[in-house]
Amino acid sequence: MAVPDPWWTSTVIYQVYPRSFADSDGDGVGDLQGVIDHLDHLVNLGVGTVWLSPFFASPQEDYGYDITDFCDVSPEYGTIDTVRELIEAAHRRGLKVMFDLVLNHTSDQHPWFRQSRSSRSNPRADWYIWRDGRGRGGRRPPNNWRSALEVRSAWQYCPDRQQWYLATFLPFQPDLNYRHPEVKAAMFDAARFWLEMGVDGFRLDIFGSVLKDPQFRDNPFRPRVDGTQTRLWQRPHTENTADTVAFARELRAVVDEFDGDRVLVGEVFGTPDVLRSYLGQPDHPGLHLVFLFDFLAFRYQADFFRSRIEAYEREFPAPMLPTYVLENHDRSRLLDRVGGDLAKARTLAVLLCTLRGVPTIYQGQEIGSANTPIALRDARDPIARSFFGWVPEFIAQRLPERLNRDEVRTPMQWSGGPGGGFTTPGTVPWLPMNHDHRQVNVADQTDDPGSMLELYRRLLHLRTGRASLHRGSLTLVPLDPAAPDVLVYQRQVAGETTLVAVNLVDRPQAVMVPDEAEVLMASQGPVTVAGGRLRLPATSGAVLAVVPPE
Ligand code: GLC
Repeated sequence: MAVPDPWWTSTVIYQVYPRSFADSDGDGVGDLQGVIDHLDHLVNLGVGTVWLSPFFASPQEDYGYDITDFCDVSPEYGTIDTVRELIEAAHRRGLKVMFDLVLNHTSDQHPWFRQSRSSRSNPRADWYIWRDGRGRGGRRPPNNWRSALEVRSAWQYCPDRQQWYLATFLPFQPDLNYRHPEVKAAMFDAARFWLEMGVDGFRLDIFGSVLKDPQFRDNPFRPRVDGTQTRLWQRPHTENTADTVAFARELRAVVDEFDGDRVLVGEVFGTPDVLRSYLGQPDHPGLHLVFLFDFLAFRYQADFFRSRIEAYEREFPAPMLPTYVLENHDRSRLLDRVGGDLAKARTLAVLLCTLRGVPTIYQGQEIGSANTPIALRDARDPIARSFFGWVPEFIAQRLPERLNRDEVRTPMQWSGGPGGGFTTPGTVPWLPMNHDHRQVNVADQTDDPGSMLELYRRLLHLRTGRASLHRGSLTLVPLDPAAPDVLVYQRQVAGETTLVAVNLVDRPQAVMVPDEAEVLMASQGPVTVAGGRLRLPATSGAVLAVVPPE
């Protein structure tokens, strides 16, 4: 008997940023009860997995990515019991649940770090990465490693120890030392704690940075655009090291102790072959999936998407699966990347929901949420705050990349009323509601056939209902020289073929399709097929069934 594919091979991930999803108790901050209350929205939408950004104990300096207890919940989000209820409520609805596992660092207020920084001889002295400085009195950082923002050293001086600690991301997020067996054991146990409770997997925060060069060699200064990232220093000694790739396999062994196909999705950056290395080998598997971030910085052109899909199909052939991302809590909303053009955002929705692999949708993407302009001066985001004062506002506002991540983290727009359905009317939410919530919200878009929400809902239900879409192969149809701006691909399983055509220019286009093609749905009408020609309106995508002749 054939073994069914694991659930995650045909799922769609929906990312919830709990602080901004739904506030059930009227304090202006989203919480886990709010997530429970809105699980039906996810079921109706048609996603299969909910990934929650961190809700663990934290002083919230990086809004949860700075943790003080990996096995506890920050009080504003709920309690351990609420987590248990959330997992149960999701499972009752057939949804899987993924948490965010922040392995690389803790908060500097974590009791482990407080102890570690107190002396060179305490029992946790080596739980973090401590080094003597260079130069007279050791007052210069140990080497040239840069923090995530590049402009600063990744090393922070600690007067108590007269040593430096490594903080790859922000200064208040000291990196754990995974070369210490107790650290590894403690963090694997934290993962086990949630796995035992029933979580179905983890999204792995900046996973590529977990193990650094044990010899602490300098990174080369070599400015280069690497995938979606522009970097001044290359990072052979601090990112994607062979030890980190090996660590992926150790972590996999931990989740494999549990039944039910628990899944690991890595946030890793690098070239496709580097990303693929994290997946391990069939006899020695690593992560199940790695996010592919190229679509976060797309060029709205057919050849851009064609070349990326081609590359990912080549680099991640079945049974590997690409994991496409158009939006997340760190980067600009896609609507802003297409200059607010809804037709373009709809076209990209067709693309995302019909590709092979695991699509990821960030809360609000399904209603066409836009960035909310927030000045650096008003930022809560620690990255934006670090830019305030030396990047002038008029420049920050004109950069294609948002410096202030608050702009994509404003409250979910459930309704057009006061509080936007996010919080109690009269309560000031932790970040301002986008003023467009009166027009752009879940309530108004529900059952509106022309809405973004309805488009996503129909696409996702079509994907679930058609085997070729959720587990079929993908073949790019050779470019039609008469319509080079139309991207066409075919999804196929035995006995079922689906054709997808995406027109990326603002002129109607026609492409050749098999005679037996029938339109299943489209982001924009009217779409017609006659005499083997599919006619698509300007800026639109269509999904067609290829029905074999009787
Ligand atoms: C990841 C998260 C980001 C967070 C950072 C530090 O990049 O996506 O939001 O600030 O890691 O944990």
